[in-house]
Amino acid sequence: MDVMQLRAEIPVLSRMTYMNTGWSGPPPRSVAEALKTRVDLEMEEGAASPAVQESGREIRGNARVAAAGLLNASIDEVLVTRNTTEGLNIVLSGLDWKPGDEIITCNLEHGSVIVPIVMLGERYGVKPRVVTLDPHDSRETILQKFEEAFTPSTRMVFVSHIEYSTGMRLPAEDLCRMAHAHGALIMLDGAQTGGHIQLDMAGQGFDFYSIPGQKWVLGYEGVGALYIKRELIPEVHPAHTGGRALVPPVTPDHLEPNINSMDKFVGGSSSAPLQAAFLEASRFIGEIGVENIETRNLGLAEGLKAQLRQIPGVSVLSPEDTELSAGLVSFAVAGWEPKSVVENLWNNHRIVVRQVPHPAAVRASLHFFNTEDEVNQLAEAVKALA
Ligand SMILES: Cc1ncc(COP(=O)(O)O)c(C=O)c1O
Repeated sequence: MDVMQLRAEIPVLSRMTYMNTGWSGPPPRSVAEALKTRVDLEMEEGAASPAVQESGREIRGNARVAAAGLLNASIDEVLVTRNTTEGLNIVLSGLDWKPGDEIITCNLEHGSVIVPIVMLGERYGVKPRVVTLDPHDSRETILQKFEEAFTPSTRMVFVSHIEYSTGMRLPAEDLCRMAHAHGALIMLDGAQTGGHIQLDMAGQGFDFYSIPGQKWVLGYEGVGALYIKRELIPEVHPAHTGGRALVPPVTPDHLEPNINSMDKFVGGSSSAPLQAAFLEASRFIGEIGVENIETRNLGLAEGLKAQLRQIPGVSVLSPEDTELSAGLVSFAVAGWEPKSVVENLWNNHRIVVRQVPHPAAVRASLHFFNTEDEVNQLAEAVKALA
C-alpha cells in the first residue's frame, strides 16, 4: 500500500490530521467527483429522461453488487439502505416478537442498538438482558459473560461487532455459534466494521448484519447496506414497503407478495448520486484491499496504544489483546474532561478526534491513510496535556 499516494487522493488530509473516520470518513476526490458527475447529469439531462433513468438503474444495481462485495454475501441477501441504523430497524421491526422475548446486548452499546431494543420493550414487552463488559476483559471472560445471559426466552443476541466507544472487537463468530446453539438469532451492528475489517457473511454464519457507507468505506452519509441470511428473509416482514414487494407481473389479478426477496423492503426511490459515490468509494477501498486495511489500522492502533500507555496520567480504555482490537483507540487524560481534550487537540494541533460517553473517553479513529507521524503527533500532544 502506497500510503502517501493514497493520501494525495483525499484532499482534507493535507489540511488536518483526520482521526474521526469512526464518525464519518473523509471522501477521496474520486468519490466526490462521482457524486458531482451524477448531480450534474441529472441537472443537465433530466433525472428521469430515458438514458438517465437507465444509468440510474445501473448505478443502483451496481451499488447493491458493491455492498454484497463488502459483506461477502450473495446479492439476493443484500439491500442497499440509507445507513446502519435503518438496516437494524428493518430487522427488528419486521420480526414477530412476543411478550417476554429477550434480547442479549451489552453495556458498551451505541444508541442504535439500545434504543430500538427499548422500543421493542414498549411495543411488545421484549426484555433486554445487558451483559456488563469491561473493555479489558479477555475473550474467555467475554464469552462466559454472554453464556450466562442466555435463558429459555432468549430470541436474539444483538451487539456491535466493533464497539464504538472503546474499539473492542467482540468475538462475533463465537457469539454466533453460541446464539445458534441456544436456538437464538444473532444480529450485528457493523457501523465500525464495513471497509475496516474483512467480512464474510457466507463463512461467519451471522443472521443479520448492517453496515454504513460513510465511515470506513469513505462514502457519503445516506447509503448503507443490510444483509439477511437467505432462509431468514421470509421471517422478516416489511414494516415499510412499496411496489417492488410483489412478484412480477403485477396486475390487479396477480398481487403476490414476494416474501423471499430483499426487494420487499424497498419503500420507494433512492438517491442515485449518493449511490454513485458509494460505488466509487467501494471501488477505492476494494482496490486497497480490506485485508490490507485491517492489518494496517491494527498496527497504527497498537502503536498509538503503546505510546499512550507510557504517559503518566493517561489511561487507555481500548482492549490490550490484539484479537479484540481494531483501528479505534480510546483514552482518558487525568484531570481533563474528554470534551476539553478534543477541543485542545483541534484548536492547538488541528487533530480531529471525538469524545465518547460510555466509558467517558477521547476516541481516535485510525484508518489506512493515517501515518505513523500523525500517531506520534497525537501522542506528543496528549503527553503535553497530561
Ligand atoms: C456502533 C454504531 N452503530 C450505529 C451508528 C450509527 O450509524 P448510521 O448513521 O450509519 O446509522 C454508529 C455511528 O455513529 C455506530 O458507531
